[in-house]
Amino acid sequence: MKRILITGAAGFLGSHLCDKFIAEGYHVLGMDNLITGDLNNIDHLFKNKNFEFYHHDVSKFVHVSGKLDYILHFASPASPIDYLKIPIQTLKVGSLGTHNLLGLAKEKNARILIASTSEVYGDPLVHPQTEEYYGNVNTIGPRGVYDEAKRFQESITMAYHRFHGLETRIVRIFNTYGPRMRLNDGRVIPAFIGQALRGEDLTVFGEGNQTRSFCYVDDQVDGIYRLLLSEYAEPVNIGNPHEITIKDFAEEIIKLTGTDQKIVYKPLPKDDPMQRQPDITRAKEILGWEPKVNRAEGMKITYDYFKGLSEEDLRKSEHKDFSKHIVR
Ligand SMILES: NC(=O)c1ccc[n+]([C@@H]2O[C@H](COP(=O)([O-])OP(=O)(O)OC[C@H]3O[C@@H](n4cnc5c(N)ncnc54)[C@H](O)[C@@H]3O)[C@@H](O)[C@H]2O)c1
Repeated sequence: MKRILITGAAGFLGSHLCDKFIAEGYHVLGMDNLITGDLNNIDHLFKNKNFEFYHHDVSKFVHVSGKLDYILHFASPASPIDYLKIPIQTLKVGSLGTHNLLGLAKEKNARILIASTSEVYGDPLVHPQTEEYYGNVNTIGPRGVYDEAKRFQESITMAYHRFHGLETRIVRIFNTYGPRMRLNDGRVIPAFIGQALRGEDLTVFGEGNQTRSFCYVDDQVDGIYRLLLSEYAEPVNIGNPHEITIKDFAEEIIKLTGTDQKIVYKPLPKDDPMQRQPDITRAKEILGWEPKVNRAEGMKITYDYFKGLSEEDLRKSEHKDFSKHIVR
């Protein structure tokens, strides 16, 4: 049986990846320090004999016993609210954490895939973004802690690949959504759904002409799975290229939730990218991958998940003033 270590296992993407690899017949070792994750996301896996969990901070030395075939490094604060609150931990997990896991991969002769992000393109001057684009990042801006940690993560991963011959994979993840996102993480989908469920007006920044493209989590997980098993070491964009303006998206949410909220406009936060859309030609050619779930289907499943949460969960997300933060 193949053994895979998944860091960030209690988070949104990590927990779905645990499910996927368990379903594919792997023995999964989940690792997480729970700084932004939630054990409820993997509660259903604890009774599975092919799942183990380690409560550990991967910015410190990482050891696991026994053989390892694969490592997926997904531990990192991922939403603007999180990484503005814990900027040093964000820099550390992208740099020291990645170094530790590359070292472990080398020791175990395992293949490692690291979770990079569309944020390596910063506020892009090229549209849509291809993997060849070097990006437009403000190193010292508030988002720099995340963007530069991820850029360093890619550099050190390629260095291990070139210098040590390590088998490495790099996925550049574009906005992904689905069940198990946190309502109060400041990302645009939970922010809108949370406001709709609480009966508040939906906050749009600037005039709402900035675009985003949203990938449903099952599609994202399928892309990551294919990339891990591919022979391709260069970065690959995985995301849904179907673009929408934030204003139109807010209107879609109002229709989906059947509520009568309005849209309220607030000033655009610093460094909020105006456009974000993946060019997925490489993923199509190399992995035979493209997204299958359209936004209406994915949003319905996601909304039903949030609607099923308890009153207490909803209350927990109530007192955030998203205008103080960067929402994307
Ligand atoms: N969700 C997206 O749209 C998206 C987009 C681009 C990139 N990504 C990347 O995917 C990965 C997962 O993102 P997510 O959306 O699931 O976020 P998340 O916050 O839900 O999950 C991250 C997990 O990592 C854990 N973690 C953080 N620092 C850690 C440390 N030092 N040691 C151990 N565990 C630690 C957290 O507790 C959490 O469970 C991140 O690397 C993120 O940068 C996600």
